[in-house]
Amino acid sequence: MCGIIAYIGTRDATPILIEGLKRLEYRGYDSAGLAVISDGQVRVERAVGRVHVLEEMIQQDGGLPGTLGMAHTRWATHGAVNQANAHPHMDDVEKGHGIAVVHNGIIENHSVLKKYLKDKGHVFQSETDTEVLAHLIGELYKDDLELAVQNALKKVHGAYAIAVMCRKEPDTMVIARKGSPLMIGIGNDEYIVASDQSAIVAHTNQALTLEDYTVARLTRDSFRTTTVDNVPITPEIQELECDLGQIELGDFEHYMLKEIHEQPEAIRRSMQGRIDTATGNVVLGGISDHANELINARKIVMIGQGTALHAAMISEYLCEELTRIPCEVEFASEFRYRNPIVEEGTVVIAISQSGETADTLAALHEAKQRGAHSVGLVNVVGSTIARETDSGIYLRVGPEIGVASTKAFIGQVLVSTMLMTYIGRRRFLSTEHVDRLLGQLDRIPSQIEMVLQLSDHIKDAVARYINRDNWLFLGRGVNYPVALEGALKLKEISYIHAEGMPAAEMKHGPIALIDEGMPVVFIATRNSQYEKVLSNIEEVRSRGGHVIAVATEGDTEIASLCKEVFYVPDTMEHLQPLLTVVPLQLLAYHATVMRGHDVDKPRNLAKSVTVE
Ligand code: AGP
Ligand code: GLU
Repeated sequence: MCGIIAYIGTRDATPILIEGLKRLEYRGYDSAGLAVISDGQVRVERAVGRVHVLEEMIQQDGGLPGTLGMAHTRWATHGAVNQANAHPHMDDVEKGHGIAVVHNGIIENHSVLKKYLKDKGHVFQSETDTEVLAHLIGELYKDDLELAVQNALKKVHGAYAIAVMCRKEPDTMVIARKGSPLMIGIGNDEYIVASDQSAIVAHTNQALTLEDYTVARLTRDSFRTTTVDNVPITPEIQELECDLGQIELGDFEHYMLKEIHEQPEAIRRSMQGRIDTATGNVVLGGISDHANELINARKIVMIGQGTALHAAMISEYLCEELTRIPCEVEFASEFRYRNPIVEEGTVVIAISQSGETADTLAALHEAKQRGAHSVGLVNVVGSTIARETDSGIYLRVGPEIGVASTKAFIGQVLVSTMLMTYIGRRRFLSTEHVDRLLGQLDRIPSQIEMVLQLSDHIKDAVARYINRDNWLFLGRGVNYPVALEGALKLKEISYIHAEGMPAAEMKHGPIALIDEGMPVVFIATRNSQYEKVLSNIEEVRSRGGHVIAVATEGDTEIASLCKEVFYVPDTMEHLQPLLTVVPLQLLAYHATVMRGHDVDKPRNLAKSVTVE
């Protein structure tokens, strides 16, 4: 999803803006642009493609001097991917005041506003909704940029994070947010505005996250925050937790590989201070004030999208196994629009790495309006979902830069496991069961380290199937969502088509896809449905399919049935996803590198989808 970086201070803005755009590249985009106020003029450069293309264009044009500027990476929603539609957008060339706008989100009533402005003589240069906002601010401008922005936003429906500047006010920047994230980094006589902390931590660790419907006016030595009705707001300054080291690539070739290998340490960090194996206690400060709502819940609804939804699906098995509370999982985007019945005693759990996914946030609002108690399982501290849930647990796996989620998935499953153990122990779960579970959980980080040693073996196996364009991923029980996650990983970064489903479902139609040599991945670990999975493997083999299995160490029986076996250590059934997903992450990674695609910035994808 697009990125915004803006600067007002005493330093040269352009290098800071370009460096900030590069830190935001992981969010996903298709074009980029930058504007600086220089000698009383707004100078703009925009380019399709990567940030370095924009950087080279600026260098060729002799640079853009100035100490007030803004930049943007666009993820197109309205208007083709081309230079004319790239941000920043300006108000009317003839009638305007030299107002520049960068925007993340969607102006839903842009058509109505565009007609209104055209009737007033405005001439548009792009197809975007954002340019409409720039012209609207220009139309309302009466030598007070903050007021013009406030008045314009009162006419706007939709989601926005914006930065605005005007050549007539070279000492002022105005920013605002509703539904899309925006932060202010507080430096010495300078401010860095950005979509997330990854573009801020290089300059300061003092920051604030704008709340929805907030407008901020910044000068070089001060800022003020108000509502769109100009009512002052006192912001909460926070100390940023992540540092540059966590964001740098280090010795790894790609962020995704780095984050796959970070998983053991990420789990240790997430469990730290939360699990006491001596007493069998799980300590979760973020929910303890609402423990009773959780322990006495009559139903738990889990919502998320993509990988987070797969983690939610695993949590459903954990919830009913450990707490005996009825649980259901919903695509957030579907939950929101199906007029859901939310009965008394319902707890909704929103799972999200970014904490900014628009579908998940909208479903959360819907559930809260219908009376549910809300819990957020989120990675990004201070993100919107984290701030808008009644209680929550941070994943604490560190910043996830790779667009394909890996350590955040492990963190989501881990935190769900701890949450359901916390609740279960206060309901009917025996201390013996809790002790055994926590004891096995404690071994998971070192067991993942063992699985990571399979990387070269997996790479060799993938090479044998790299020209196959269709894969199936099959699993049963808690490993069924792992099959979905393995399929998503492969397709979203290697662009190879892959489908995940319950192993039993294959014979109800998809088995028609099996042809000679088709790669079919089974998660076939020793558990309550192992024998059934073996039967499904036989069904594939008898039709010429090539079976690739994720199996339990020591299982020699399965080796005779498969072309490839990736062994993982044994653990209790409900903890197996923490191990079985790792070979599938590595499989997708190696396939992508072999196919020559961009592992960390897959085409069309965004790290956080902040539009519906
Ligand atoms: C994960 O590999 C995908 N990039 C995507 O499905 C992601 O999980 C989904 O968009 C949800 O994002 P969130 O966890 O930040 O809410
Ligand atoms: N809706 C705007 C556009 O299509 C902004 C998209 C974004 O968030 O990057 O240009």
